[in-house]
Amino acid sequence: MAALGLGIFLGGCITAIPVVTGVAEGVEHQKKQNEEAANETRMIKFNVLTSCDSDDELADEIDDGIVVVRHNKVWILPCEEKDGKPVPIPPEDDITPPLHAFAGFYIQYPDDDRSPPERGMVSTISDDPPMLNWIYIDKETYELRYGNRTASIEHIVGEWDWTEDESAVTLEGWEGFVAVDESDGMSDEEWESTPWGAEGLRWAVYFDRDDNGLSGKIRKPRGKGQKSRFEVVLNRKLQSDEEQLKQMEDANKKMQVKSQGGLKSQFTAPAANRRKNVWGRKD
Ligand SMILES: *[C@@H]1O[C@H](CO)[C@@H](O)[C@H](O)[C@H]1NC(C)=O
Ligand SMILES: *[C@@H]1O[C@H](CO)[C@@H](O)[C@H](O)[C@H]1NC(C)=O
Repeated sequence: MAALGLGIFLGGCITAIPVVTGVAEGVEHQKKQNEEAANETRMIKFNVLTSCDSDDELADEIDDGIVVVRHNKVWILPCEEKDGKPVPIPPEDDITPPLHAFAGFYIQYPDDDRSPPERGMVSTISDDPPMLNWIYIDKETYELRYGNRTASIEHIVGEWDWTEDESAVTLEGWEGFVAVDESDGMSDEEWESTPWGAEGLRWAVYFDRDDNGLSGKIRKPRGKGQKSRFEVVLNRKLQSDEEQLKQMEDANKKMQVKSQGGLKSQFTAPAANRRKNVWGRKD
């Protein structure tokens, strides 16, 4: 096995991403894989804005929405523009930590057992400290989740891609994403006693992997039938160069403040943590 370290700039820290390749594979194939893994176009950061075609009144809540990561799940919230960038409108005041919009890119999923390797998708899950997680599909429930390598490896981690015009996200070759009303089938009181309901979240994202409308996957509690659901498009909204640069500068500033405070160990700690948490790397 040969490990090639790719230095890329993630949220302010240079992180080495191991690209492990089998020596038995053809050199050309290997070269192509490494190129793909290092492809800068694939690593342009984007937010995800949702659109929904349905005429149903309920669907208004997820048309023109933005994808956020919360409680290990992926949600859709209404969206507004602030300083030229899309941000979620918090459903409740004082949500701590604050809601975090998906901000991610494509990168090869590091797993020797996946051959050929699959293109994964990561998102930041917090800005301070900067943390990246894999976005994956729970293999039992088909809901979108996020987590480190350990949490994601047994689930569906790819192949993530984009539509031909690069405008929307696809998985396993198609756009089978569905917004599901997780509160459907519960009383308001019951829903508000869940961590999601307490924060006013409602629409979770699923992947209709078997192309059967999530049959058997999204049953209402107790009652009969399925929760309300709508097909959604996950549109890629590329972050501007300016925005990406600003993020790097902000992250640099944070690091400088910490190092100037004489906390040298804190200077390296976030990067080391993140590497371990996110890529779950087996050195
Ligand atoms: C990077 O990805 C883009 C989009 O898929 C593709 O057009 C380009 O050829 C790739 N570049 C490399 C070096 O693989
Ligand atoms: C990965 O996430 C799981 C929770 O999903 C956590 O228990 C575990 O400690 C994390 N692993 C690392 C290496 O941080």
